[in-house]
Amino acid sequence: MEDFRLESVLLVGSDHKVGLGLVQQFLRLPHPPQQIFATCRCPDGPEGQVLKDTACRCSSHSALVLLELDVTDPDSIKEAAKKVKEHVAGQGLNLLINNADVTFETTLDSENAQTMAAVYATNTIGPMQVCQVFLPLLKTAAWRSQRRGMSCSKAAIVNMSSRCGSLSVVDGWERKQDVGYRCSKAALNMLTRCQARSYSFWNILCISIHPGGMNTQLGAEQAAGS
Ligand SMILES: NC(=O)c1ccc[n+]([C@@H]2O[C@H](COP(=O)([O-])OP(=O)(O)OC[C@H]3O[C@@H](n4cnc5c(N)ncnc54)[C@H](OP(=O)(O)O)[C@@H]3O)[C@@H](O)[C@H]2O)c1
Repeated sequence: MEDFRLESVLLVGSDHKVGLGLVQQFLRLPHPPQQIFATCRCPDGPEGQVLKDTACRCSSHSALVLLELDVTDPDSIKEAAKKVKEHVAGQGLNLLINNADVTFETTLDSENAQTMAAVYATNTIGPMQVCQVFLPLLKTAAWRSQRRGMSCSKAAIVNMSSRCGSLSVVDGWERKQDVGYRCSKAALNMLTRCQARSYSFWNILCISIHPGGMNTQLGAEQAAGS
């Protein structure tokens, strides 16, 4: 943990559960990032207020910058990137965490083109577009860093996946099928492999992770079935 020092982190989808928890953990680090960009779709709404209240309870609250970002809206992604670029002022972005997701309770019979496309738009296409737009800032951070190898402290993309998207495990099928969600996370895992192949050229680490059983509605359901 002592070595986990980064100047900037961007958390996409940060106003609920896992995302909000991550913001809190970053703010409480012994050496918090100088800039924590926390995004949500409605920063001026109640969710944004939750983020502001969270920040106020931490001594490092001045690090938090609240931004609007909808991963399904390319203009919104570009606008957020513009603001991040202004804030980091030539330093680049160390860590990008794609945490946003949606899911619909579906079965293999009830899943349809509309639900599947909506889930893909947020869970798979969204992270791809966010990474494309923020890539120049990640490259800058990687290029500036004195650290050897690849790391989250240097330049990294973390895509928040799920065991539900694992081709080998197919976790919790008997309990809930959510076919679109599973497929979107499996595709996200492959997107991550593609990014790793390509972006390692610039020393940008790309990983997808399952956050584990979280104390959230989705987490409680998954923990019950795994
Ligand atoms: N909870 C678990 O135990 C668990 C288990 C396995 C994997 N995961 C993964 O971990 C991540 C977080 O899980 P969670 O339970 O905290 O999910 P969540 O409560 O559903 O939160 C998802 C976040 O995504 C945001 N979001 C949705 N659509 C968006 C869009 N179009 N643009 C930008 N943001 C959008 C939501 O913000 P709004 O307020 O705007 O809706 C919210 O902040 C997800 O990727 C999930 O698949 C979680």
